[in-house]
Amino acid sequence: MPVRSKALSSVRPRPLRARTYTGTPRNLATLARVLRSGGLVAAPTETVYGLAANALDADACKHIFLSKARPQTDPLIVHIEAIADLAKLAVVNPAALVLAKIFWPGPLTLVLPKTALVPAIVSAGLPSVAVRMPAHPLFRRLLRLAGVPLAAPSANPFGYVSPTTAQHVRDGLGDKISHILDGGPCSVGLESTIVDLRQPARPRVLRPGAITRAQLEQALGVPVLAPARRRTPATAVAQIAPGLLTRHYSPRTPVQLHTRLTTREVSSGDPREAWVFIAKPPVLRGKNIHWFDHRGDLPRVAQRLFALLRELDQAGFTRLHIELAPGRAGLADAINDRLRRAAAI
Ligand code: TXA
Ligand code: MG
Repeated sequence: MPVRSKALSSVRPRPLRARTYTGTPRNLATLARVLRSGGLVAAPTETVYGLAANALDADACKHIFLSKARPQTDPLIVHIEAIADLAKLAVVNPAALVLAKIFWPGPLTLVLPKTALVPAIVSAGLPSVAVRMPAHPLFRRLLRLAGVPLAAPSANPFGYVSPTTAQHVRDGLGDKISHILDGGPCSVGLESTIVDLRQPARPRVLRPGAITRAQLEQALGVPVLAPARRRTPATAVAQIAPGLLTRHYSPRTPVQLHTRLTTREVSSGDPREAWVFIAKPPVLRGKNIHWFDHRGDLPRVAQRLFALLRELDQAGFTRLHIELAPGRAGLADAINDRLRRAAAI
């Protein structure tokens, strides 16, 4: 009797090879089916690409953590299609509704007490949940077609720079996931502003983003607290708001930050080290001279920030010297927050 032998390699699980989809109605219907049946889809939001799963399906959400190698102590953000869906997931208060009406759909995440509908794995066992209504038309269509809220952290391996293109997702997770929806580069480029509204009279920003503290204060009519100054140690696994881990969004190349880069400093520097300006410097040119935006326009700096960090991280420089955005308010605050995390060891 012939013995059927199978080469060992053929029984080993093959690494997944992500397929990239454009946003055609047919593809969106396919991807919505994947989500409804417990699968994962990486998809664009206006901030960064997210790795989405049905937020009400604990097993599907567990796969998010596995694919990203993300500790299960780091809670996920849940994305909804309409403000009316918020009350299913969270205990809503008037301040939350005020912000939702003004800033949704958009790059703002609200932290509120959670309802029983939210699986413990989504909130990392916390009694609260983070919810946002994204503005990206493709993500919104996916939400509508899937008919369920979608839990989605940034679609990158845990601790690395967030992805702002489908290619970034493929670079980081291409052998871990099967479906990537390509919607082009993200328009905002930084993760959403997270505001803690568990105590609505004392709102606090947990993570700065494109929606500023001043905008939130104007909408709410009360002071909004800044993120707590003391961050958790670089290597710790945070318990309360782990996105606040100091080392996050980090390239592998060491990063050194500068309040202002001067021509003299740069021209006497080591050519194996890169110098990154906020705006195009007047005279310096060379393979190691870079800038985020020609004019230093902050929305454009934000949009390009992660892409340039990734590009330079792969270019073989021994160090990245990066200039901080000028000022402390608004978008500069969010940009510098990400740069400081990129620099933390
Ligand atoms: O712009 C964004 O927010 C993107 C896109 C995909 O929507 N998502 C994103 O997710 O940045 P992620 O996983 O990279 O960040 C989630 C962070 C957590 O690390 C934590 O800081 C905060 O959201 N978070 C989630 N649930 C929370 C909760 N219950 N309490 C406090 N913070 C929470
Ligand atoms: Mg992230």
